[in-house]
Parts: sequence; structure tokens; C-alpha cells
Amino acid sequence: MINSQFDKLVDRKGTNCLKYDFAAEFGRPEGLIPLWVADMDFCVPEQVKKTLLRCAEHGVFGYTDAKPEYFQVLGKWFLDHFGWKTDASWVVKSPGVVFALAAAIRAFSKEGESILIQQPVYHPFANVIKANERKLVVNQLVCEDGVYRMDYADFEKKIVEEEVKVFLLCSPHNPVGRVWTREELQRVGDICLKHKVLVVSDEIHCDFTYPGYQHLVYASLGQVYADNSIVCTAPSKTFNLAGLQASNIWIPNPTIREQFQKEIAKTGYSDLNTCGLAACQAAYAYGGEWLEELKEYLTGNLEFVRTFLKENLPQIHLIEPQGTYLLWVDFRELGLSAEELNQLLVEKAHLWLNDGSMFGECGSGFQRINIACQRETLKKAFKQLAEAIDSLK
Ligand SMILES: Cc1ncc(COP(=O)(O)O)c(C=O)c1O
Repeated sequence: MINSQFDKLVDRKGTNCLKYDFAAEFGRPEGLIPLWVADMDFCVPEQVKKTLLRCAEHGVFGYTDAKPEYFQVLGKWFLDHFGWKTDASWVVKSPGVVFALAAAIRAFSKEGESILIQQPVYHPFANVIKANERKLVVNQLVCEDGVYRMDYADFEKKIVEEEVKVFLLCSPHNPVGRVWTREELQRVGDICLKHKVLVVSDEIHCDFTYPGYQHLVYASLGQVYADNSIVCTAPSKTFNLAGLQASNIWIPNPTIREQFQKEIAKTGYSDLNTCGLAACQAAYAYGGEWLEELKEYLTGNLEFVRTFLKENLPQIHLIEPQGTYLLWVDFRELGLSAEELNQLLVEKAHLWLNDGSMFGECGSGFQRINIACQRETLKKAFKQLAEAIDSLK
């Protein structure tokens, strides 16, 4: 029964999409239900599709750039959703958030200098630090009673001992699903100000919070925080536009902005692609209602998983997410080795999840599960999981 536009099955197979069409390339058997890479199995808002169709029909794809309306639409979105007053001049466009993280690392540190992250965290954080020959410093998040928290003492100790230059904050946090509170952000922010550490806040998941949680833009905490920050945003997660490669990097401090722009200029990159730019503007202009409906649907998906695990698989523990459509799930009570667990998930459950250890060693025994798919897909996946775990008896 179709209750929501998001229940409609979209066949993504054969579109060269990473999630469904690259099993062999990733060394996986065919036919797994893919709940891994962070994109959604949903069509974009109708207005975005129409905008892209108009673009395609025009048939000319020359160079473009953003007009004032682009920045107005962006500014309105962040004001309406997060109470954050911005200025168009703060925006630096980037093909991706990870591209921007890498540029920030190069712009604000030298080879061999330290960059701090909070694992378990989105794995490209560590990858870009290492690829740019910086030193990876980890301030591990601590899980207390099923809630991940920051260890401030260790955070400051590592910053001082390792002379950290840049802190990559993940807010909301992928994969543990935390929506950081004002107090938490201010505490780490104050430590960074004290020791002159630049805060690069990856807020790509900012639009996904569950009822009762409100995302806070790091730079909206106050002038001193804004002046020491780079805030990375994109319509890519929110509206399922990742393949169009458009993101907006906000840098209120003109000195930091200029240094960042110089680094981007060094790469030779100049502007967003025509379709990405148009889709981004249309999504922020017209996608509000669609997003509200989507969030309701995802809340339903989360409720399904929560209830299913409680009723059928009590030995598997969901880390209750406050935001993002990625679930962080603890399989350690099964008592399996990493290899045994992955074998069970692939060969018996026929699922393609993200192994927790890719987000840092502390993620071992966990799996990340993407629930941005039709409920029917999710039901099938969890039924397969329950049958596989049953087979262990
Ligand atoms: C925290 C986080 N940052 C960045 C990205 C990717 O951003 P982009 O595709 O713009 O590089 C993802 C995608 O999953 C993510 O979860």
C-alpha cells in the first residue's frame, strides 16, 4: 500500500549508481540489499526535477554562475531553518564538502601538522588528513548509556600536546547520529579559541533532525565562534543531489575566507556545474514541504527499525539517533569476530552495510545502516537480518 510519495519504489539499478550497480567492483556478490553509501532511494522534489528538465531541454550547457537570487534563496533557508543570519559574501562554492575539507586542511596547516577529528566519524575525514600528509589526531567520542558524548579533557590535552591547527567537527555527527547541543559546541569552540585552532564544521546533515532536536549552526553560536569557523553545507544529502556536486561553504571571517579561496584557486577549480547550480537553487527555494514530508517518513523508518530490533533482535542495539538518516548499530553482543559478522551480513542476510571499523577502530563491532529507502526495502532487509541471526542458533 502506498501511503506516502516516499513509499513509491524507484528502480535505481542500471543507472550506474554507486549504491546498486557496483557490487562487483566493491568485491560483493550481486543481489544484496544496499543500505550503505549515504544517498537516498527517493526522487528529488518535483520542482527540482522540472528545473533540471528545463535545463536539459534548453540543450546548452555552457559556463554559468550564481545570480543574487541564488544567495537570497540560500540565506532564507538558513535563516528560516536555523535562525542563522548570513551574508551572501560569506559563500564560497565548492564541488563537494570533502573537497572543501581538504582545501581547508591545506590552507590552514602545513605538512606534518596536526588535524583533530572525533572518531568514530565519516571516514573521508581521516583519509583527506592522511592524503595531505598531515598528522591525524583522534579525540574519541565516548558512549555513555547509549549516547555518544565528547571527552573535553582529552580534546584539550590532544590539542595542546599535538599542537593541533584544525578541528574537523561533524555536526550532526555521522555515524553516531548526535545533534550537538549549544553547550557541547560552545565547550569545544572555547577550547579551540583558547588554543587558536580553526573549527571546520561539516554540517552536510543539518537538515535531518528527528522530532525534539534542533541543529545549531556552529557559526550562529556568536561572533567569536563565527570568526573562527568554516561551515560546510550542501543540498546534496537533504535533497538527494550528491551526484550534481554542489556545496556551499560559509566563511564569515574575510581573512579566513581569502586564505581558503586562495587554496581553492590553486586547484584550478572555478565554478559549479550548470545543473548543480540550478538544482541547488530550486531545492532550497521549493523543497521545504518535501523535506518536512521526508523527515516524517524517515521518522517512521526509524520507528520501524527500533520496534523490529526490540521485538525480534534484542541482542542488537540501536544507538538512538538524534539526526541523520544513518543508523549506528551495535552488533557486539553477538560475540562474532569482525570477519564472522561481515560474512553473516553478506552471505546469510544478503545485506550491504558499512562496517563500523571504517569510521575508526572504535567502530569495530558496529555497522552503519542507511534507512533512506522505501519502508518495504527496510522491512525486507531486517527480515533477512533476523533470519540470518536465527541461523546462528
Ligand atoms: C559528514 C559528511 N560529510 C561529507 C559528505 C560528502 O560530501 P560531498 O559529497 O559533498 O563531498 C558526507 C557523505 O556521506 C558526509 O556524511
